[in-house]
Amino acid sequence: MRCSYCIPEEGVKFIPSDEILRYEEILTLADIFIGKGIKKIRITGGEPLLRNDILFLIERLGTKPIDEIVLTTNGILLGEYAERLKDSGVERVNVSLDSLNKNTYQRITKTDSLPRVIDGIHKANKSGLKVKVNVVAMRGINDSELLDFVNFGKKNNIGLRFIEVMPQYYSEEMVKDLFIGSKEIVSQIEKEYTLTSLKNSQKGSVERLFEIRETDYKFGIINAMSDPFCSHCNRLRLMANGVLKACLFGEDGPNLKKMLGENKKEEEISRAIEKLVMDKPEKYFIDERTTNLVMNRVGG
Ligand code: 5AD
Repeated sequence: MRCSYCIPEEGVKFIPSDEILRYEEILTLADIFIGKGIKKIRITGGEPLLRNDILFLIERLGTKPIDEIVLTTNGILLGEYAERLKDSGVERVNVSLDSLNKNTYQRITKTDSLPRVIDGIHKANKSGLKVKVNVVAMRGINDSELLDFVNFGKKNNIGLRFIEVMPQYYSEEMVKDLFIGSKEIVSQIEKEYTLTSLKNSQKGSVERLFEIRETDYKFGIINAMSDPFCSHCNRLRLMANGVLKACLFGEDGPNLKKMLGENKKEEEISRAIEKLVMDKPEKYFIDERTTNLVMNRVGG
């Protein structure tokens, strides 16, 4: 999949496989993170369902003292994996889906997998996984579908989150053209429904929650651009090559795979993690010239 807001047209260089974290390393690092109080593990990518040890990895993570394992996927292989994901301990899947229209989906992702993704969502739902759909809102591309998504979510009992597009490979001009802020997303939905903005109950949540008053359906908006939530974001992001980041937009932190390879003691790795967290700025500088964001490597 090559979503245009995530992968530049010329493609990306893949990381050599010996530089990718092996599952043993992921499990060792998971223990260290859990020791420092991490309670929720999200598996992202690239596309996590392309890893052939993914179920094994999730099962092992599931034996650890954490509250939740969630997975972010493009949904193409979700139908095939849904039941086994549920059985191996996944609580929830976030599916990236920016259009319910075949042609628009094709235009965004350069694939014609929409029916597979929709089928995957239904299968996941049936297997008892909680499902949330992530929609990156883009002017002139899917902005006419925002209400369709709300109705789709409501009808199928699926969570929904609109995401403000973040600058990445697009030129400054293109981001300006594409960007739809949360206010406008809200006003589009308000054409049909009355919305109440809710207080977030979940600690560390980065979405703003809204409830449709006519029903009790709730959806979220991630307004990373119009109202950055840095001060209460508590995520850490471990990339496939072992580099740890405190923010999608942040500088690269320590390479934990390298530290493991150098037989660094657990305490030392633990200290490196702590330092990254303590040095985290109160607010990241995000604008169209941001170059640190490499979504296809950091995951969502
Ligand atoms: N802006 C906003 N969201 C993005 N994602 C990827 N790139 C961007 C971007 N530039 C989202 C995808 C997916 C998750 C993995 O990250 O839509 O839901």
